[in-house]
Amino acid sequence: MPRSIIIDTDPGQDDALAILLALGSPDALEVIGITAVAGNVPLALTSRNVRVICELAGRRDITVCAGADRPLLRPLVTAEHVHGKTGLDGADLPEPTMPLDPRHGVDFIIETLMTRAAGTVTLCPLGPLTNIAMALIREPRIASRIKEIVLMGGGCFEGGNITPAAEFNIFVDPHAAKVVFGAGVPITMMSLDVTHKALTSRSRVASIKAIGSKVSDAAAGWLDFFERFDVQKYGSEGGPLHDPCVIAWLIRPELFSGRRCNVEIETVSELTMGMTVIDWWGVTERPKNAHVLGDVDADGFFALIAQAISRL
Ligand code: BDR
Ligand code: CA
Repeated sequence: MPRSIIIDTDPGQDDALAILLALGSPDALEVIGITAVAGNVPLALTSRNVRVICELAGRRDITVCAGADRPLLRPLVTAEHVHGKTGLDGADLPEPTMPLDPRHGVDFIIETLMTRAAGTVTLCPLGPLTNIAMALIREPRIASRIKEIVLMGGGCFEGGNITPAAEFNIFVDPHAAKVVFGAGVPITMMSLDVTHKALTSRSRVASIKAIGSKVSDAAAGWLDFFERFDVQKYGSEGGPLHDPCVIAWLIRPELFSGRRCNVEIETVSELTMGMTVIDWWGVTERPKNAHVLGDVDADGFFALIAQAISRL
């Protein structure tokens, strides 16, 4: 039986690859719907970009809802310097024509969790956690009905990528992250420690391009664009495919390793705002509230992505 998921996202080229991986893996995953949140670019663009991706994948039937247009408390910080003006620079695709669902993304998340059987829906946040926190605040009964939250965010040994201390998704809405990590829901966290090992390379992008379809051309174009930033800025070998790690873990968890830890979110100091304070070594008695992944078999991960894209 495929696992039922809601993807909450702010595309973003790596979000796009995550969505393609999910849509191309129907044996493993049922995508109930996709909710957009403000993050990499403003909500008007993220909610457009989700539909661009669904149409590219031939899935106009997917429910797409727009959610929060700004973080709970702080002003929105975006990342056009990484993802380009549209958030999805790198592939030339038509404006989407499929409509947005009229429901607010937060209502859709609550409705789905309250109507589907308890313990059967997994939430996959790939951007700031605003929608998920709002849903938990508005309808606290969903906490015990969520099977698991598998998210991309935070970092331990790798530090941060938007400030020295903080990873982008958590930094943009640290107060939302605090709500989510404190909700008592099982959490699996794809930190920078693991995503910085899921790097693109010439040959990995070439093998996606070699699939020779409209979807693979767009995916390779996105990867080429995305990798430029990290290669120039960090001198790394390629670009880290952060968000697809979330989906890959649901399909093939054996590709990853990590440990259960306590994770707390910094929301007080401006210097370290949005830092994930991860008790990797178990030096406190604080409850282990998250499964923090730290390593991935990158070849297996890229093979999985190529396989899913070839199915679309
Ligand atoms: C995260 O921030 C965004 O730029 C990416 O899409 C990813 O979700 C990585 O820090
Ligand atoms: Ca993202």
